[in-house]
Amino acid sequence: MATKTIDELDVDLFKEVFKKYKCRKTPPDFSELVDFMNLSSKHKEEYGIKRLSLQEPDNILRLADLQPTHVWNAYTLDKFPGFVHISNVFKFNGQRYWVYRCLHDYPTKPNVTNLDFIEQQLGKERPENLWDACYPKVKTAESNAEKNDNNASKKAKLSSDKDQTHHTNSNRRSESSKFHFDKLRWVTLGYHYNWNDKTYSEFEKSDFPSDLAYLSRYITAAIGHSPVFRPEAAIVNYYHLDSTLGGHTDHSEFDHDAPIVSISLGQDAVFLLGGVTKAVRPVAVHLRSGDVCIMSGSTRLSYHAVPRVFQSKFFKSSFEPEPESDYVGIRDFEDETMKISDNFSDISRQMKNVYENLEWQPYEAHLLKGRMNISIRQVLKAGQTFPKSMPYDS
Ligand code: OGA
Ligand code: MN
Repeated sequence: MATKTIDELDVDLFKEVFKKYKCRKTPPDFSELVDFMNLSSKHKEEYGIKRLSLQEPDNILRLADLQPTHVWNAYTLDKFPGFVHISNVFKFNGQRYWVYRCLHDYPTKPNVTNLDFIEQQLGKERPENLWDACYPKVKTAESNAEKNDNNASKKAKLSSDKDQTHHTNSNRRSESSKFHFDKLRWVTLGYHYNWNDKTYSEFEKSDFPSDLAYLSRYITAAIGHSPVFRPEAAIVNYYHLDSTLGGHTDHSEFDHDAPIVSISLGQDAVFLLGGVTKAVRPVAVHLRSGDVCIMSGSTRLSYHAVPRVFQSKFFKSSFEPEPESDYVGIRDFEDETMKISDNFSDISRQMKNVYENLEWQPYEAHLLKGRMNISIRQVLKAGQTFPKSMPYDS
């Protein structure tokens, strides 16, 4: 009798592990996760975990938020070839910039979000910038008065009826916008992924953000990917502490030789990485804010999932500037690159502006309850145009 392969037996080990980490009744043992901050020799042996030495790309400009690659910690797993986990990628409070982009900028038109499809359900047009509507800026004169001068503060509080009506309206607006923001699940950038037919189309496209393009090109060059990565589409996922992302493969891109770059922000998560079928038992990895995962080679088309998001122990420190280091690195770098690329120095200026002026508190409060992930994809091969028919419809 011919022995059946594990595929033919129709076992779903992926689901089994997914369920274990999703389960709320019997919470999983998080100490079983592969934790790249604290690798056990058992895990090193079991998965063939090795440190990957990185290159300092010389053909791609390094954004001011990034550490030099010699301090990044990158690991590969022999059992899952092509998967790379990198930590310590971002400089001190460099992650704040990306949080700002994901919460303040990316969920705006012409980017596409799930909110576009539930606007009717929510019963009102979405404000142009949902984040600003959630957290309207307090008038500076008044807030200064409150901070600096008790008398002036009392005067400021004795506002007229008209002012009070204005405040009540803006409170109401901000509450309804927060309700709206809570429903945000995803944003697509560049070629907008169509979730229904699982395709990209040459006609559904907006500009790909150039900061994310620099970031992903730099990361892929650092792990030695060549030719140069062409970021063309991204999906930003927004998770609550009780959200999950089911097992799936990302196969809708036409170029499967190009890696997927995935960046975690906010609370921690369990990330499962399996094989090209669900019969392969997935490895469960502990992801933290600022971690970067790359799926390339034979794991480019592997099943993966996020069965759990959970409160981080180090959440605050992920976003704190190191004392003394201030913005020196950014200033130096800006001067150095100013001559090289106008577009690049625009981004550097924008980053510096965010570092210096961002009122971080509402962003931090938001992230205490959630996680975000940006996954960046190359859709087409270099020089390729959209084929007439789509390659997959599974
Ligand atoms: C995806 C994805 C992983 C994550 O968006 O396709 O796999 O960590 N995201 O959110
Ligand atoms: Mn995916």
